[in-house]
Amino acid sequence: MKRTATLLLSSLAGAASLAASPTFTIDASHATGPASPKLYGLMTEEINHAYDGGLYAELVQNRAFQDDASTPVHWQVIQDASSAATMALDATNACNDQLPTSLRLTVTAATKQHPAGVANGGYWGMPVQPRTSYRAAVLAKGDAGFAGPVTVSLVSNDGLTVYATQKIPKLSPRWNRYEVTLKTGLVAPTTQARLVLTLAQPGTVWFGLVSLFPPTWNDRPNGLRKDLMQLLVDLNPKFLRFPGGNYLEGQTIETRFEWKKTIGPIAERPGHPCPWGYRSSDGLGLLEFLEWCEDMKAEPVLAVYAGYSLKGVHVNPGADLAPFVQEALEEIEYVTGDTNTTWGARRARDGHPAPFALTYVEIGNEDWFDKSKSYDERFAQFHDAIKAKYPQLKTISTMGNDQPKESHVRSRQPDMMDEHYYRATDEFVQMSPGYARNYPRSGPEIFVGEWAAHEDAAIKPWEAGARKQPPTPSLKAALGDAVFMAAMERHADIIRMQCYAPLFVNVNPGARQWRPNLIGYDALSAYGSPSYYACQMFGQNYGDEILGVTAGGTAVQGSATRDSRTGEIFLKLVNPLPTMEPLRLELKGVASLAATATVITLAGSPEDTNSIDRPRNVLPVTTTLRGVSPAFTYTLPPHSIVVLTFKARK
Ligand code: AHR
Repeated sequence: MKRTATLLLSSLAGAASLAASPTFTIDASHATGPASPKLYGLMTEEINHAYDGGLYAELVQNRAFQDDASTPVHWQVIQDASSAATMALDATNACNDQLPTSLRLTVTAATKQHPAGVANGGYWGMPVQPRTSYRAAVLAKGDAGFAGPVTVSLVSNDGLTVYATQKIPKLSPRWNRYEVTLKTGLVAPTTQARLVLTLAQPGTVWFGLVSLFPPTWNDRPNGLRKDLMQLLVDLNPKFLRFPGGNYLEGQTIETRFEWKKTIGPIAERPGHPCPWGYRSSDGLGLLEFLEWCEDMKAEPVLAVYAGYSLKGVHVNPGADLAPFVQEALEEIEYVTGDTNTTWGARRARDGHPAPFALTYVEIGNEDWFDKSKSYDERFAQFHDAIKAKYPQLKTISTMGNDQPKESHVRSRQPDMMDEHYYRATDEFVQMSPGYARNYPRSGPEIFVGEWAAHEDAAIKPWEAGARKQPPTPSLKAALGDAVFMAAMERHADIIRMQCYAPLFVNVNPGARQWRPNLIGYDALSAYGSPSYYACQMFGQNYGDEILGVTAGGTAVQGSATRDSRTGEIFLKLVNPLPTMEPLRLELKGVASLAATATVITLAGSPEDTNSIDRPRNVLPVTTTLRGVSPAFTYTLPPHSIVVLTFKARK
């Protein structure tokens, strides 16, 4: 219904000619500046089960039994009236130094007809898809009297349907890694399933790690979820800012993102408590971040831990900070070093001989929280060391124009400053017309490393009240996002990069800490919010030159860019009002202009949104506009975000 209504409004637009309409002028006679080629990117961290239970395709929750020191959370005993088993964490039978606890399964009664064992229900469900191969990897050993087999199966929660099953035929009394492939048939997709490991006779076995992967993006063995990657690639991102955000800093220095503990075989990654209240497996570690970038053809924007953690602890600049500076230098070497370097060689051993391109290194995150005011000195120490070893790299300070000028880094000139804006739509509508207008063009460059609009100014994204709202935003928020993106585009000569945050949310109530979020999902399916589609419309339709725009007497905000190779002009217009808004569009300085333009429209009621159950309720609609001329009237639908693409020549 909504799609038809939007189409009607769009096709009406080219027809009318209202001389009294407010004028929106695009000056195409010259570019006001170069449009940053990296303007559109992504920000990511482990929040809302973004990786574990999200992008990282692992299906087993607490696969290495480290999530809770006292009990094997997310695991259950499987037994029936004729079989019996117990399970317990075992700190005396570790599979290696990194994973100090294993799971001991003791089966005291079991037969082929009545097996007993353990089951894992995944991250709020175990997704089973038809005709799909799942790779199970099990690190296990048996006691001296038990050699197997161990049956590995995907089974419905009620135990009645076995979707796929395989046997590990013979267990060694020493730790060993076993792999089986579970292939499903023509089954109906479901999340109501579990991974079940059973014995058909009494015995004791230990599991050090139990992993299950569905097919992944680009078939990477320790890879990423395909549906979520497709949504990301469709945003056309040019960079990925990682690993945080708060996730970089940790609540304490010990629980920071310690990159060296996130590389190598997954059975050698201990994981760590993430600041958002759960434990990260670190299965998505530094190399996986980099390969994720590679798979999106996006460049990493690497944030390095800079000696401040969220509980208010900081490392004193000077000798105390030196090991952390060294840690960052080695991390950069892991990313960019050739295979003759220590850490470049380690990257090659981990499976990626080719170095990754890197331009920007962000030093810390939101250091305005550091009450000790040590950031200026800490920044200087990192900046100097990075510039000395890697003069080509650009450093980003976390103190931007969203913070008082006196708090900015003074002792060094950062190449870039990071600003964060979590604001209500109404606030973005107010601040966007003037945003960045007076930023000095001599630098530093600006990175808007986190931003998002929410609907209600009274409910902040991090507050408990926000978690009672739907996990992803409505069209009202997307309107706020769009006016701000238009502002950043108008100043894309100095705003060199920007990214919405947070990117991901597992929509299950127990999984989330923040709202709004760009992309929602459960174990089986995913959807983009209206804000996602606003970002997609902007990121997919963008030139390399900024054109000046002027508007008079209208609440409509917008921006224009041009592709200098094709001459195409991309005009973005945002109508935050509940009324149709006729505009006289004037394209000045074009030698030729095609009579038709492509129009992409995202419109509806402010409260309209998408969800797992209605993933395509609010979608952009593409139409063709006729009657285009250097001055014509175009009517925007109420509450709309519109991208017009004109075929033009200078
Ligand atoms: O995006 C959520 C959080 O907001 C980030 O972790 C932090 O940098 C900011 O405060």
